[in-house]
Amino acid sequence: MKRVHLFEFMDQAWCPKVIRDGATDYLQHVISVTDGYGPIRPLLLESLARQSTNRVIDLCSGGGGPWMGMEQPLTEQNPQIEVLLTDLYGNANVPQRTADRPLTRIRAHPQPVDALKIPNELNGFRTFFSSFHHFSPEQARSILRAAVESQNGIGVFEGTKRTPAALAFMLVVPLLVLLMTPTIRPFRWARLFWTYVIPLIPFVVGFDGFISCLRTYTVAELKSLTEGLSPNGYSWEIGEKSARGLPITYLIGAPNPIAPDSNHTQN
Ligand SMILES: C[S@@+](CC[C@H](N)C(=O)[O-])C[C@H]1O[C@@H](n2cnc3c(N)ncnc32)[C@H](O)[C@@H]1O
Repeated sequence: MKRVHLFEFMDQAWCPKVIRDGATDYLQHVISVTDGYGPIRPLLLESLARQSTNRVIDLCSGGGGPWMGMEQPLTEQNPQIEVLLTDLYGNANVPQRTADRPLTRIRAHPQPVDALKIPNELNGFRTFFSSFHHFSPEQARSILRAAVESQNGIGVFEGTKRTPAALAFMLVVPLLVLLMTPTIRPFRWARLFWTYVIPLIPFVVGFDGFISCLRTYTVAELKSLTEGLSPNGYSWEIGEKSARGLPITYLIGAPNPIAPDSNHTQN
């Protein structure tokens, strides 16, 4: 299936905030409840150790992605880890969601951050969860180049796939939004209104999810995006990691060489 870079609501500056926040709140909730990105935790911890940093700069964070669900298991292994959540269109519920945590290793950045122009002062291991597909190949390459030039590590993690099964699954996602919305916190009347009275949030989550599948880069495409981007020993590791039958496509870039590991695809 060829990659097609079609329209998504969440890319649009005009997307109403209540709808974008409702959609990214749902994504945060479902990813955390299912621990969908659990399989990549060891990769993440190894990558931080390799860059000798405890600081993660998460881009395109939406409602917080997998971080709330991963905070405890990550801090058990690395108590010094710190995660800064950033987004171009910050989700209004993230400050409360981070403040309500028993642990305090996750913070929300107060300013908008464009993943295509990351400020120099935001140094650390850059992560993109369920979001790298938002960028065209030229933009995606410029994000990778910026990581190399600033000598920061980068991790791209995608749970969507360009497969008929993943596309078919996205057709039932609006129903899952209807089922799960009452358990999303913090509670918001507006979220209930735009889910059950005028169901724009379930529609946008399903529509963007379907298009996200069609835009997701394959392992081979991610490899080709990194071609020629390896000066001064910067290295790439690209592959898939599975758990419970749900493979996560990943790309890790690191300023120091990556130790060979027979389970991983090296570029
Ligand atoms: C699929 S959503 C949320 C992904 C989130 N990481 C998660 O796991 O739930 C994609 C996010 O990308 C953000 N976004 C879109 N373009 C962006 C850009 N150029 N820079 C930073 N964030 C961007 C949107 O505001 C939205 O919150």
